[in-house]
Amino acid sequence: MLRTHTCGALRLEDKNKNVVLSGWVQRVRDKGGMMWIDLRDRYGITQLMFEEGKSSDELMAIARSVGREFVLQVKGEVVERFSKNDKMSTGDIEIFVEELKILNAAKTPPFTIEEDTDGGEELRMQYRYLDLRRSPVREKLQLRHKLMQATRRYMDQQDFLEVETPVLIKSTPEGARDFVVPSRVHEGEFYALPQSPQTFKQLLMVSGFDKYFQIVKCFRDEDLRADRQPEFTQIDCELSFVEQEDILNTFEGLVKYLFKEIKGIEVGDFERMTYDDAMKLYGSDKPDLRFGMPFVEINDLAQNKGFNVFDSAELVVAINVPGCSEYTRKQLDALTDFVKRPQIGAKGLVYVKYNLDGSLKSSVDKFYSEDDLRTWAEAANAKPGDLLLVLSGNTDHTRKAMSELRLKMGSDLELRDRNTFKPLWVLDFPLLEWDEDSKRFHAMHHPFTSPKPEDLHLIDSEPGKIRANAYDMVINGVEIGGGSIRIHERELQQKMFKALGFTPEEAKKQFGFLLDAFEYGAPPHGGIAFGFDRLCAMFGGSDSIRDYIAFPKNNSGRDVMIDSPATISEEQLKELHLSIKTAKS
Ligand code: AMO
Repeated sequence: MLRTHTCGALRLEDKNKNVVLSGWVQRVRDKGGMMWIDLRDRYGITQLMFEEGKSSDELMAIARSVGREFVLQVKGEVVERFSKNDKMSTGDIEIFVEELKILNAAKTPPFTIEEDTDGGEELRMQYRYLDLRRSPVREKLQLRHKLMQATRRYMDQQDFLEVETPVLIKSTPEGARDFVVPSRVHEGEFYALPQSPQTFKQLLMVSGFDKYFQIVKCFRDEDLRADRQPEFTQIDCELSFVEQEDILNTFEGLVKYLFKEIKGIEVGDFERMTYDDAMKLYGSDKPDLRFGMPFVEINDLAQNKGFNVFDSAELVVAINVPGCSEYTRKQLDALTDFVKRPQIGAKGLVYVKYNLDGSLKSSVDKFYSEDDLRTWAEAANAKPGDLLLVLSGNTDHTRKAMSELRLKMGSDLELRDRNTFKPLWVLDFPLLEWDEDSKRFHAMHHPFTSPKPEDLHLIDSEPGKIRANAYDMVINGVEIGGGSIRIHERELQQKMFKALGFTPEEAKKQFGFLLDAFEYGAPPHGGIAFGFDRLCAMFGGSDSIRDYIAFPKNNSGRDVMIDSPATISEEQLKELHLSIKTAKS
């Protein structure tokens, strides 16, 4: 070994020991007679000391020749520091260096390798291997490692088998576009990379594997956001002979275990809410429950009083923002501008101030008496000092806009604390969702999700009203995982494909293998998959999953470090039977 200890190991108890350390130069301080070098590795930083007169001239000369990020090996004695640094775990000691070897020189890095670096995002991504030397970034990957190990421990204890499934497959419908890989051997044919191992895990149930899990890469060609990467990791799970309740309990158990193991937090039993209630009360299928402000529908109270905007609306909905009755004109205008932004798309915002003296004042006083407004305030459980915000219009749009406004108010009032965790199961998702563009139904979760038996009779008359045995786990407004009880009968699966607009031939071509498997004794089964990167970001208190991935893609799906995607040679294209005219060539 090129070291006896790491740079984070030595303490005062090690005084007088002769040690060998290796690492990178964090900092050099030369005060003439004395010189210090901070040596860093992933365990910490240890101070090296050189002293004119005591250290040889040759050693001083070598020490003076090193720069930031040089790789060094030093031999020396652990000595007690004269001025200690209680911010460092090794701050009581330093190494009086006797030998120094430069293992490798380094160019000056393009940004400082410090907690707060001067490097911008793009530069850090281009030199990600240097960015990863910074402790905040390294700590995020250490957290990821811990979460991964703890997950495997829990799953193993619960008798799950980790089974790997292939990466070169064919399309698995999860609602995104596939990444495809052309086949050299089979001209004109393509593999697809898995959007998830969905069909394989179901086949494993047919094989009798009973309890499967896998920490697995998935690939989706979709628009990127802070919580989406084109390749990301799932904790993918499937169980046989279970009902929804068993799955909820098993995976509530996993997440509780992770909170306890990793953060030392006991989260209580998870709240549960139906999809319908989540939409009605929070306008979102992933409500952030760290704060209240539930929606209050006030159609009955606000309509037919001569205010045309409300009268013509499908929905008039309010939230009560506590303690904000003294918002200024400017603050209220800013909220109006916020809801009118194109991304939110509301036409306007109505407010009612429930003043501390008990009086009520609104932006629609022309149409509503104080008594009218008081009925709204009562419906919303408002107290003097509160502020009601009201939106109206088409139900879906208005709920969406109000959900954004509610989240903004939660953030503005600092009610979304990163160290508070409010996990929630959202249950009873609709089975199908109407897509205006293609004018047909799509599976809301995926086509293998089973309908609630009591709703099945609606399949021909009102398919949009069928509820599914599908559930999402939501924490603090983030969809952490989702799953469902599956269809395990061929006939029902065929019916589902039909409802989704597949002809029998298309269904057979794309999913014949699964339909066939269902004829050889498929057990009742169901499962769930967690977005592992999202879980890491949640545990780390961040909105962006990128920092929790060692080598992530940027906002446009590029890896700027290795410069990918990239063109390939004419020869490769030919071998793959592709002819491409790119804008670049
Ligand atoms: P679903 O599509 O809901 O379900 O995905 C499961 C979870 O994966 C995470 N996730 C993502 N994370 C980062 N980047 C992305 N692009 C991305 N897309 C999804 C989310 C999501 O909740 N096969 C089903 C699961 C099942 O039915 O068992 C599936 O993949 O946290």
